[in-house]
Amino acid sequence: MTEDVFAPPIGEWYHPSEELLKAAHVQDYDEVYRRSMEDVEAFWAERAESLLEWYEKWDQVLDASQAPFYKWFVGGKINIVHNALDRHTKTWRRNKLAIIWEGEDGDKRTMSYWRLWQEVNKFANVLKSMGVRRGDRVTIYMGRIPEIIVAMLACAKIGAVHSVVYGGFSEQALATRIEDAQSRVLVTADGSWLRGKIVPLKDVVDEAIHRSPVVDTVIVVKRTGQNVNMVQGRDYWYHDLMALPIASRQCPTEVMDAEDPLFILYTSGTTGKPKGVLHTHGGYQVQVSATLQWCFDLKEEDRYWCAADPGWITGHSYIVYGPLILGATSILYEGAPNFPYPDRWWRIVEEYGVTILYTAPTAIRGLMRFGEAWPNRRDLSTLRLLGSVGEPINPEAWRWYYTAIGKERCPIIDTWWQTETGAFMIAPMPSVSLKPGSATRPFPGIKVDVVREDGTSCATGEDGDLVIQAPWPSMLRTVYGDPQRYVDQYWTKYAKFGWYLAGDTARKDEDGYIWVIGRNDDVIKVSGYRLGTAEVESGLVSHPSVAEAAVIGVPDEVRGNVIYAYCILRNGYAPSLALADQLKAHIRHEVGPIAVPEKIEFVDVLPKTRSGKIMRRVLKARAMGLPEGDTSTLEE
Ligand code: WTA
Repeated sequence: MTEDVFAPPIGEWYHPSEELLKAAHVQDYDEVYRRSMEDVEAFWAERAESLLEWYEKWDQVLDASQAPFYKWFVGGKINIVHNALDRHTKTWRRNKLAIIWEGEDGDKRTMSYWRLWQEVNKFANVLKSMGVRRGDRVTIYMGRIPEIIVAMLACAKIGAVHSVVYGGFSEQALATRIEDAQSRVLVTADGSWLRGKIVPLKDVVDEAIHRSPVVDTVIVVKRTGQNVNMVQGRDYWYHDLMALPIASRQCPTEVMDAEDPLFILYTSGTTGKPKGVLHTHGGYQVQVSATLQWCFDLKEEDRYWCAADPGWITGHSYIVYGPLILGATSILYEGAPNFPYPDRWWRIVEEYGVTILYTAPTAIRGLMRFGEAWPNRRDLSTLRLLGSVGEPINPEAWRWYYTAIGKERCPIIDTWWQTETGAFMIAPMPSVSLKPGSATRPFPGIKVDVVREDGTSCATGEDGDLVIQAPWPSMLRTVYGDPQRYVDQYWTKYAKFGWYLAGDTARKDEDGYIWVIGRNDDVIKVSGYRLGTAEVESGLVSHPSVAEAAVIGVPDEVRGNVIYAYCILRNGYAPSLALADQLKAHIRHEVGPIAVPEKIEFVDVLPKTRSGKIMRRVLKARAMGLPEGDTSTLEE
């Protein structure tokens, strides 16, 4: 990044316009926040009641008796699909568009709430006929097409637990996630369009199942149409199944307990295999819908576009569940932002009259490179609010987003949250004045601070750990199959106080605004995507030439961070450019294109502590030409 994110020009404030403020759901953030803190449970209970329909009301808002295994809305009966679909079909909203979809190749489709509900019912019946039952895990591996939403909702409808694996992951990443979730059924597509080429999803699936032979049924959506291998008795075309009589348009929605699992979403952790973050039916939908409504000020007439991928938490919460619960019309676009030209996104905004756009700083920086002429050629006057997520947004990108895209009319809602938090935690709403680069203040009901190792609160401008000091409804409930890891990772460092450790370093300023600086563990954010050093490193050592590997994230102007890899070769292999290229291809194939190192360096030794832990901090300092800091623990 060219500019220090954390030194914004003093006094650079952006205040909401009268017009925006007057119409906003929340007029006075400070007052609402203050009141929420007087009784946090009452605050969430009120939201839960006014935003959602419950089959049966809860007996207890929060059960903290087995902390940190908190339970929310205990005894409540609900199903997220009832609120996202069923209830809308009983009102005029059945005729409203739920999804406006555009394929990268120019294909277009729309789905009303009525139509989406029927598709979901049909597919839910298909899943049932394949033996999927309440509590079973179903892996979904697809591109950005409406069927990914159908598949997720169909699972939730019958009480199955979906595990969506981002379509940019490859063989080993998919295999590991199938194995961990023990999914018998997998839903995929033949391919997906990206930059004019086919991403061969089904081929990846075949190889992943070969490595993790847990899957006995594969359902394949035909999207790109090339020939794919269909295994007799295992693989079925989606359209064939949907044409069968079993795919009835009626399907009862399973009555779930508020605490029943809704989905597993794998995310990178500090060590070892990816963590299956588990979210539930009740609390998750409360906070997702509450935050979307207030922070993005979502209204009935909006055309809302979250340009993330459904395969990440941003897509789960703010493409699929949040907008549907609120009855919104969403845009879903399959491909790359700059295909075939750098105005693709701006053309979509113009064509569909998008009012709210939500994306990541990396995408903004990427499009900024092409210059203002591209957005200027399009009518962006429908936009009224812009969102950002995934990493700190540097003020340079913030200002470009604000002026070139928002024409100084749209607030930039910078949302800080995580796969684990399920929904926004720190984010402004229209009644909060903005400072470029800060996610501003916590959402009502959320208590956060920046603290020192001893738990004392940091002074203004002092770096510390970002902690969440009280449970929240959309919190992860556990790490799937590994509750100890849940405790160790998030609740141990500040166990004395009962605080959640976010894994980010942050700062507070004199106005109490929070500035998130970045991860302080072995998680790397590449183009806003979350990767673990461990996953890339084990990908590297799975190549016959590599004995040992270490990877680090190094700042990059467009992507936020890029990966540098350091490899020790096995005997009999010599460093060469060709080998470095082979290793990159290997990572692309094993983990996915986003994990491909920018640079691979062959080394004889890696800096390690005496106990044998790789000191990535030292590698990073060296790569960036910075002082190595305290190296007293470095092995000789
Ligand atoms: C980072 C994405 C600064 C942070 C929703 C966090 C951010 C990690 C922001 C979670 C933001 C996300 N400003 N940093 N607005 N949003 N992050 O699980 O480091 O993919 O811990 O969830 O992204 O990444 P994840």
